[in-house]
Amino acid sequence: MIQCKLKEISGNYDITIKYYLKDVLSDINKLIVKEKRNVLIVDRNVYDIYSEFIHVFVEESRCEILAIDIKEENKNYETITLIYDFLIEKNIHRDSTLVAMGGGVLGDIVGFAASTYMRGVKYINVPTTLISQTDSSVGGKVGYNYGKIKNILGSFYNPTAVFIPLETLNSLDNRNYINGICEVIKYSLIYSKDFFAFLEKNIQSIINRDKETLLYIIQKCLEIKMHIVNEDFKDENKRNVLNFGHTAGHALEIISNFNIMHGEAVALGMLIAVKLSEYKLSLSKDIYNRLLKMYFTLGIDYNYNINNIEEFISIMKRDKKNDEEIRFVLLEDFGKCKIKTKVTEVDLLKAINEGIGEI
Ligand SMILES: NC(=O)c1ccc[n+]([C@@H]2O[C@H](COP(=O)([O-])OP(=O)(O)OC[C@H]3O[C@@H](n4cnc5c(N)ncnc54)[C@H](O)[C@@H]3O)[C@@H](O)[C@H]2O)c1
Repeated sequence: MIQCKLKEISGNYDITIKYYLKDVLSDINKLIVKEKRNVLIVDRNVYDIYSEFIHVFVEESRCEILAIDIKEENKNYETITLIYDFLIEKNIHRDSTLVAMGGGVLGDIVGFAASTYMRGVKYINVPTTLISQTDSSVGGKVGYNYGKIKNILGSFYNPTAVFIPLETLNSLDNRNYINGICEVIKYSLIYSKDFFAFLEKNIQSIINRDKETLLYIIQKCLEIKMHIVNEDFKDENKRNVLNFGHTAGHALEIISNFNIMHGEAVALGMLIAVKLSEYKLSLSKDIYNRLLKMYFTLGIDYNYNINNIEEFISIMKRDKKNDEEIRFVLLEDFGKCKIKTKVTEVDLLKAINEGIGEI
């Protein structure tokens, strides 16, 4: 059995990685106080696949259960109110615990509901996708989309514990799995040349979802994220580096009406950001070429035709990290980011063309 414990200092909570979901659920069962009214909020797809273990957990822990349909388009206030209604109907109190089981969307909205319901109730996160296991389940950012702006409404609110069941990655479809790898590549670019080289060297094990490789990758991403978050929890400065690839990425997600997934959009956004980094910070062209090679092997799209460039640019200007100027996180080298770098529309158009235009 794989087991590992990490500690997030700013929130002072444990992150436990185990292989089997049933072991994770058994740990949570021991952790929650049965006399309180607790709730498991689970992504309906996850519920359908793992219902056998979930039923045992719900029975033993005496949790109420709410299964919800999850997709990026539902990361909105309607889904939050659905959760509030359920909590009120089940008479959930301030000393109750919510257990969130699902991907990044489910975790972000349950975390937000937990942060606001009765001015804050405890929640435990059980991330089941690669994006949520490597990224969204730690760091305390919770929230939802509004209008055409991603994650514009939200708060900083830490879980009381995070339990990562590695085996749930086996049921992810290939697109969602590779979607998660895109964020892993981001971590390697912003943090370490060695980690990027590890991904290159172990690409077949990654494709095969080898569990030791995945354990290494998840631990590495979480270590990097915790290191950054512990220095700048409220995202006032250094934490901005995690936004590498996201300025264009978020805008691509929106203009595609979420037909492009979050990680896929970040992958394209990174190609644009790398091109801009070549122009503005003399980043070596070698990085773009190595990135393309990796995308090609993993089957990640590296071309995208932006039909409505005006809307794309206007969404970027409205991004919550921008102020009517277009600012990017750029790279000087592996692990050396320059945040809030202003770019001109001319450079941006060139970077789009050279970065993700048809080759
Ligand atoms: N809070 C943060 O710091 C942070 C960081 C990165 C990303 N995010 C957010 O995370 C979201 C993306 O997360 P995601 O990629 O996990 O998307 P998601 O939650 O939409 O999950 C993707 C799909 O996988 C399904 N699924 C979940 N677990 C499964 C499993 N084990 N087996 C089979 N199917 C499963 C879901 O039902 C869904 O259809 C975005 O909204 C993004 O903004 C947040």
